[in-house]
Amino acid sequence: MIKKHFIAACAAVMTLSAFAGSAALAQNAPAPDQQLVQRGEYLAKAGDCVACHTTKGGKPFAGGLPIVTPIGTVYSSNITPDKTNGIGNYTEDDFDKALRHGIRKDGASLYPAMPYPSYAKVKPADVKALYAYFMNGVKADPTPNRNVDIVWPLSMRWPLSIWRKVFAPAVAIDGGDDSNALLRGQYLVEGLGHCGACHTPRGVGMQEKALTDDSTQFLSGGVIDGYLANNLRGDARDGLGTWSEADIVTFLKTGRNTHSAAFGGMADVVANSTQYLTDADLTAMAKYLKSLKPVKEGVAPLAYDEKTHQALRKGSDQSPGAMAFLNNCAACHRSTGKGWDETFPHLAQSATVNADNPASLIRIVLEGAEMPWTHKAPTQFAMPGFASRMSDQEVADVVTFIRSSWGNQASAVTAGDVAKARKELPKTVASTGSAPAPVKP
Ligand code: HEC
Ligand code: HEC
Ligand code: HEC
Repeated sequence: MIKKHFIAACAAVMTLSAFAGSAALAQNAPAPDQQLVQRGEYLAKAGDCVACHTTKGGKPFAGGLPIVTPIGTVYSSNITPDKTNGIGNYTEDDFDKALRHGIRKDGASLYPAMPYPSYAKVKPADVKALYAYFMNGVKADPTPNRNVDIVWPLSMRWPLSIWRKVFAPAVAIDGGDDSNALLRGQYLVEGLGHCGACHTPRGVGMQEKALTDDSTQFLSGGVIDGYLANNLRGDARDGLGTWSEADIVTFLKTGRNTHSAAFGGMADVVANSTQYLTDADLTAMAKYLKSLKPVKEGVAPLAYDEKTHQALRKGSDQSPGAMAFLNNCAACHRSTGKGWDETFPHLAQSATVNADNPASLIRIVLEGAEMPWTHKAPTQFAMPGFASRMSDQEVADVVTFIRSSWGNQASAVTAGDVAKARKELPKTVASTGSAPAPVKP
């Protein structure tokens, strides 16, 4: 498992207030084309630039967010139009070089913690709109950039230019066909959405193993910050095979649907980015995701099995896992394992529960989670964390129990797996065992 991913911290909690207080127009400059600026603002949301370029409580796009990489910490840049510390002196061409080619104005290469290999897909007309927004729709802020915390000689940037030549794709030269929903969806998922940055497994050079659907590795699942960013391909058990197009749209718009709810880095993606996309764009993305073949062909979906429910009701299953489930989880997820739609997610047939890699499952039980806040679904249901209440063995028992109940078919989890995940918890959780308070519907 990749321990610390270099884009790890990027999805840190951002607030949308990040977008408030924009529109500082430079005096004397020709009035910018407001439509273009607005279009750029929309595209910046589709690209989730705020996730990495704003610190919690910091000025929008003023940078400084630490991103932990295997060789040290990289800080995101100030991309406000400040002329000294931001990108106020960047021409559209300079901006394009950074955004799509990974090259700074001074010629140095950027760390791929900035997902320029995905943004290489962005078409020139959209680069223009993004530039118009960052120059005219974002307020200049003088926060200075921070140097990387990487020791010499690894801190030298020239090897990054080799990385770039080996792994970064050629940039898009034309417009693409926006009227074809499938192509539009592909454009957004592969490009601005940079979904693969989390959902595609990484190779030895930390490069995404595929940037397009020419390999079934693309979007087949990646580990980010101790969570599994699920397989988004057509697999029926651990992918989106049983989700309809509408299910995907609902998830991206509201952060929840009848199958699941967003947590970990995905809660931030929904809160900062996808909830703002138009229904047409979300439908296009869903259409494209539904076109991705499963990694493993011919695997049937899991069928619900009533036996667990009956055994829990009659009290005939007295195993430690069943008891831990009844005592800690059943109040919300119910003895049916079906929870309540859009409130407490299904554990029966859940992709998170059935994934080969139990990272997200162990993590959510230890840390708890809170659904993202969205305009369309403002009630944030939460799950308490059990880090301070349950031992490694108890967590392993309950997780193993739900992975083999109600028709679920996934391998057992050991106390050792849980102990490892516990070590990776943010200090705030590990030391106090605190978690968001449960919110009752
Ligand atoms: C996953 C995190 C992440 C996301 C998302 C992201 N960036 Fe970045 N960006 C970074 C990091 C980290 C750096 C600094 C890299 C370095 O110092 O080598 C950076 C650097 C840049 C730079 C170079 C600034 C300079 O000093 O030349 C620009 C411009 C930029 N980003 C624009 C954007 C825009 C526009 C978006 C949204 C479309 C975006 N970024 C989204 C992480 C991110
Ligand atoms: C910052 C990392 C990150 C990025 C970027 C990201 N995701 Fe995720 N995503 C995750 C994680 C972690 C999970 C697992 C937690 C969960 O289910 O919410 C996840 C889960 C999901 C799920 C739910 C899958 C399931 O079976 O429950 C969907 C659908 C999804 N992502 C779609 C997308 C799309 C589409 C994009 C691009 C627009 C995207 N994600 C970008 C991290 C990310
Ligand atoms: C107070 C109610 C509550 C309790 C108790 C609770 N959960 Fe949850 N659970 C939730 C909510 C709410 C979510 C959605 C969280 C989110 O998306 O941020 C959730 C999500 C999950 C998920 C992710 C499912 C998916 O596919 O998205 C799993 C797995 C899970 N819980 C397992 C458990 C286990 C195991 C226990 C007992 C040890 C437990 N929960 C106890 C409310 C609860």
